[in-house]
Formats: sequence, structure tokens, C-alpha cells
Amino acid sequence: MEQRLTTAPEATAEDELYIRCEDLFKIYKTSNLEVVALRGLDLKVRRGEFMAIVGASGSGKSTLLNILAGLDTPSAGRCFVGGVDLLTMSSREMVRYRRRQVGFVWQQTGRNLVPYLTAVQNVEVPMVLDGVPPREARERAVRLLEMVLMGHRLHHRPEMLSGGEQQRVSIAVALANEPPLLLADEPTGELDSVGADTVYEVFRTLNKELGTTIVIVTHDPDIASRVDRVVAIRDGRTSIEIYRRVRFEGTEARVAHDEYVLVDAAGRLQLPREYLEALDIRERVRVLLGEGRIEVLPDGTRRADGRGARW
Ligand SMILES: Nc1ncnc2c1ncn2[C@@H]1O[C@H](COP(=O)(O)OP(=O)(O)OP(=O)(O)O)[C@@H](O)[C@H]1O
Ligand SMILES: [Mg+2]
Repeated sequence: MEQRLTTAPEATAEDELYIRCEDLFKIYKTSNLEVVALRGLDLKVRRGEFMAIVGASGSGKSTLLNILAGLDTPSAGRCFVGGVDLLTMSSREMVRYRRRQVGFVWQQTGRNLVPYLTAVQNVEVPMVLDGVPPREARERAVRLLEMVLMGHRLHHRPEMLSGGEQQRVSIAVALANEPPLLLADEPTGELDSVGADTVYEVFRTLNKELGTTIVIVTHDPDIASRVDRVVAIRDGRTSIEIYRRVRFEGTEARVAHDEYVLVDAAGRLQLPREYLEALDIRERVRVLLGEGRIEVLPDGTRRADGRGARW
């Protein structure tokens, strides 16, 4: 018997999507230089999904997350989050979006928290700014801190907490105004493995109990076993995705991973770099349609029947 922890990749209906980015571009212009950080990125995230984004340094992960958080605007393409169009939003709508629709956790624990406020006060700040009455704010802050396993440290200031504990408080702060989407940029980057484990456990609980859609950027090599789906970004485009699947053999649960190469609406895909290197593929290939498959052959290779690709 096989049980999918996530919706099968082919089964994601449009109305189940919370995030939809298509052909997204971000170009940073400095005085005499243009950096294309996102080059035609496609990404779909289901409502209530817990997923991760991985990729080499400079591949565009933080750029994407900042766009989804409403902290930066795309240069071109389409990007909808919860039905909100991030390309046409006015700056006033952007402020509202940031306050209500999305919570954000930074890698640097110090960047998430006000140092002279206690844990519970830190969680209250976004609510006070949003006009939540003090008593309600306190109750909600305590409840959130309990959910992130920090109920026993309500009145500690950040300096009295470990890095992992500070990150858990930061997650509670990010969720203070009950956003449907939580984004975290390398939230465990500065933590040891025990601290990281607890942070992932907290993410999983929040995802399950609050239904929050969670997208994290990480370099964690074990990430595929911790989240429902991992999407890899290469050179500013999504390249592959990995699904987690649980298979029961008798009563024993085995976790397996299915890997897919993503194909965009124009039929573009990124071949794994090691495959390109193995066959010394550089500029072009021959693409042949076979029985239930497409074959990609190094340039110069001919099939016996002489059939080739057409456009
Ligand atoms: N504000 C900016 N101005 C100019 N270029 C930028 C800016 N922010 C990012 N870039 C460039 O865009 C590209 C993508 O950067 P980004 O920060 O998204 O990468 P990343 O995948 O998050 O990397 P890392 O894993 O190191 O955090 C890089 O080449 C980077 O130098
Ligand atoms: Mg980054």
C-alpha cells in the first residue's frame, strides 16, 4: 500500500494553488551592471503545502522569497499569492499585504527580534501595530509561543535564549497576525542539528494545526525527508522537484523520494548538469520521440531510422 503525503504532482488543480509564478524575471540594475537573478521562473505551491527551495549560492532563492514576501517587486512575468497580483500591487496594498498576508523569518536570529523586549512582547509588536486590543494580543502571543514550544520562556529577552529558541520566537512573531503564508530564508542556517530539528518540528506542527502554507529556503542536505516537496532552483529558474512518499511494507513505513525535472509552458527544461557533463553535451542535442519517451542524444548521434526532431 502506498500513501502520498502530498498531492500527486499531476493532480494540483488551479483552485488549490496558493502561489503561482510564471515566467518570472528579476533584474537588479546597479550603476553599470545588470544582474538577472530570476530568469523565467515558474513555481506553483498548493494551499497548505510545506515545501522547501534549495539551490546553489546566487541561484535566486532569496530573490524569489523577497518577492513572495512583498519586500521586492519582480521585473516581469506573473506572480499571484492568494489571488493577489504581486506585479500590479500599489505600494499601499503592498504594506497591507506584508502586514496581513505573509510572515517572514530571516536567517540571522538578531534580525527577527527586538533585543530589549521579552519573547511575549516581541510577538505582541505586530499585533499592536495592527490595532489588536492588548488583552487579545497577549492571549494570542502566549498561545503562539506555546505552539512553537516556547511557553516556558515567555518573559525571557532574546539574549537569554539559545539560537534555536530565538528562531522559534521569531516564527511566533511572523505568525502574530495569522498570515496564511509563512516564508523563511535559511531559518536553521545558524543552528546546530538539535536546534534545527526542533525548528522543523515546529514548522510541521504549525502547518498541520493552523493550515499555514510554508515555504523555506535552505541548504540543509536532509531537507527532502523533512518537507513534503523540495524544488531546486538553478540559475534563476526552477529545475527539479522531489516529492516525499511513504510506503508501508507490512507495518513498517519507508520514506522514498520521487524526483522530477520541471517543464515549463514553452516546453523548456533543465537537464541535470552531471548528465550534460557525462555525455559532453554543450550547445545542442538531438531530441527524438520514441515509444512513450523522448530521447535526448548528443549532437552528431543518428538513429538508425533517421527520424529527428521538428519544430
Ligand atoms: N540587491 C541586489 N542588487 C544587485 N544584485 C543582487 C541583489 N540581490 C541579489 N543580487 C544578485 O542576484 C543573484 C541571486 O541572489 P540571491 O540572493 O537571490 O541568491 P541566493 O540563492 O539566495 O544565494 P545564497 O544561497 O548565497 O543566499 C546573485 O547573483 C546576487 O548577486
Ligand atoms: Mg539567499
